[in-house]
This record gives sequence, C-alpha cells and structure tokens, in this order.
Amino acid sequence: MGASSRLSGLYRQSVAERQAIIRDRCNLTENQVDALTHGGLSLDLANRLVENVVGMYGLPLGIAANFQINHRDYLIPMAIEEPSVIAGCSHAANLVRGAGGFTADADPPMMIGQIQVVDASDVDAAMERLAAARDDIFALANSASTLSQRGGGMQSMELRRIDETRVGPMIVVHLMIDTRDAMGANAVNTICEAVAPLIEQITGGRVVLRILSNLADKRLARARCRVQRDALGDDIIRNVVAAQALAEVDPYRAATHNKGALNGIDAVALATANDWRGVEAGAHAYAARDGRYRALTTWDRDANGDLIGSIELPLAVGIVGGTTTAHPVAQIALKILGVTSAMELAGVMAAVGLAQNLGALRALASEGIQQGHMALHARQVAIAAGATGEQVERVADTMTGEKNIRLSRAKELLHGKK
Ligand code: MEV
Repeated sequence: MGASSRLSGLYRQSVAERQAIIRDRCNLTENQVDALTHGGLSLDLANRLVENVVGMYGLPLGIAANFQINHRDYLIPMAIEEPSVIAGCSHAANLVRGAGGFTADADPPMMIGQIQVVDASDVDAAMERLAAARDDIFALANSASTLSQRGGGMQSMELRRIDETRVGPMIVVHLMIDTRDAMGANAVNTICEAVAPLIEQITGGRVVLRILSNLADKRLARARCRVQRDALGDDIIRNVVAAQALAEVDPYRAATHNKGALNGIDAVALATANDWRGVEAGAHAYAARDGRYRALTTWDRDANGDLIGSIELPLAVGIVGGTTTAHPVAQIALKILGVTSAMELAGVMAAVGLAQNLGALRALASEGIQQGHMALHARQVAIAAGATGEQVERVADTMTGEKNIRLSRAKELLHGKK
C-alpha cells in the first residue's frame, strides 16, 4: 500500500465512511465491500470448511491505522471481539511512527515436522543408519509434496535422542521443511506421514507421532521500535520499564503481558484466517524456552531517555493455502495489508504484537486500562440489554457518566426509568 496509513479520526467516522476509505485505498471491489458487510462466508462454504455446521459466528473486523514498518505504510485488519484493542494498537503505532516507525524481519518459513520412533532395539545404531539414509529420506519427503518445485521443501534433518521417558528411549526425527508462502501444516504433516514407513524400516522401531511442531522456532519474526521521550514523558516511560521488569521475572505477570501482545497478533491471524491456536502455542512455548516463562518483548530506556522496544516469537503464518485462500474476508484482509509473502506477513504481525504490548503498557503505566475500556464495555452492556441504534450511545453514555455499568441499569434506562 503506497498511501499513508495515518488515518486520524477514523473512530469518529461511520462504518460506511470507513468502508469507502478502505475501498479507495486498497482497490476493493463492490463485491468485496459487500463481503466485509456480511462477513464473507456463505453457509455452503462454511459447511465445506468444518463438520456438523449449523450456522455462522460473526466477529467485528476493524482497521488499526498509523503503522509504518520498514518505511512502508500498512493498514492492519484485525478481527477481534475485545474493546480497546484496535484503538490501543493504532495509538501505539502512531507513537512509534513519530520516531520513524517499526523495523521488522522474519526468518525463512521453516517448519519442523516431528517423527517419533519408539522401541528401536539399538538406538545408537538406528541413529547412525538414519544419518546415512539422509538422501533417501530427503528424496521421499520432496516427492510427497509440491513444495520443492516452488523453491521450498525439505532443507535439513536433525536427529534427537530422548532417553528418559516413561516408555523408554526414543528417537525424534526433525524434518526442517521450507513451506514458502503457506503456513504449511498440511504439507508438513503429509511429508511426515509419507516418510514414516521408511523411518520405521531404517530404525527397526515403531513410529507413533508424525506431525508438525507448533514450536516453530526456526521461523521467528522480530520487530523493534523507538518512542521518543517527549511523546510519552519520563514518568510513563519509567513505569513502562518497571512493568517490563516484572514481566521478565514473574510468570504471573508475563502471561498477561504476552496476552496483551497476542491480542494484536491473534486478531491479524484471525483476519487472515491463519491458525491462531498454533501461533499461541508457539508463542507461549517460546516464552518458556529457557525453562522459565518470560515476556516475549523487551522495553528499555536509551541514553536519550527514549523508550526502545523489541519482540521475537515464532510466527507460522501464511498468505496462501487452507482457509486463508478459501475465506473471502481473509483474501480481503490480505489485500488491505498488501503483503506479498508469508515472511512479510510475519514481520508485520510481530510489529503489531509489539505495538499492542506498548498500547497496553502505556495505558497501565498511566491512567489504567479501564477508563478506555469502560465506554466500549458500556456499549456492549447496552446492546446486551436490547438497545439498538441511537439507544446504544444514549444508554452507554448515561451508565458511563454514572459509573454504573450494569445490565440491570441498562434495562432500566431502556424502559424509561431514570
Ligand atoms: C487485556 O486484554 C490485555 C492487558 O491485560 C495486557 C497487559 O496487562 O499488558 C491489558
């Protein structure tokens, strides 16, 4: 996307006005705007995606503005039900924009496929035979998918030996598979299943698991940013660093801290129909990689007093394949993002995670998150009480003013009781 992502006052516009902005900037067709309005998924398509379908489940799709990543502007589509996330993300991206934006990068899209071998009578000898059969394993792996024809496929093999398990020693074969622009679960699992009989034959053992690892730590994405001292002020910066310090040593805080970053990352994963459960599993496992669960981000002050942040986590996400290709709104989300590779998407998502974490820490380090949350929460309570149209704002404003945001109060206000 060439145009600026700086969209001040987006929140004051109507949905139709926002749609018009996105349509014009991202060259959406009228059909695509219509798909955004209605959620994109037909019952028929839903019925082809999963089993036992009885209906559909809608989620809001919003746009986080102001993102500049590697000197390029991005509009960020986010599918999420939680109030304040999109606003917090846009606000943080604007703070970072003032200091030149994010830098981000991602490793090549290397997934790990695991093949578990048990009951090998001589583990050492079996591992030696596996190493010697490397070329045959590669050839079989690459014949099982089209990845190698697209510049990806099997890249290397690691042999792990785990002696201390409840069922005796085992060998775990790791196949490193470059999945190009796909998340790659299907290709990796297909390859693991195809190679398993050969592995059994070579080892004389029994293969049990043949599946990808969601700890995709060969596929890390990173982002970095700066916020100028004047943009936040010394007090807030000091508090952000204090909050960060707790997340570095305390798993109770680190879980919440990381959840804040994942609010943003998951919302983009959902918008692009990527496997957010896989992303979550990888992120949390990576956060605990040294045996203690820690923050995925870092925040510090530099010599000028500016706030410097970074994030690193596995991001196994794709722009082709699976539901990403099948879901019309995921296709629109990718068009809005304007990313052209899975690596670019991973870098953008890392920057979104860092921004989301900054947005949460900034609010926690100053006014707290409830102030911003409450106005939106009040609207949800008003809607739950049956408010529609103009009533939603009226009931929500009154409850916010009264600091009494309750379903019973919303119902009273709706039914005329002061
Ligand atoms: C809420 O969804 C996320 C936060 O709890 C994150 C954090 O505490 O850093 C606000």
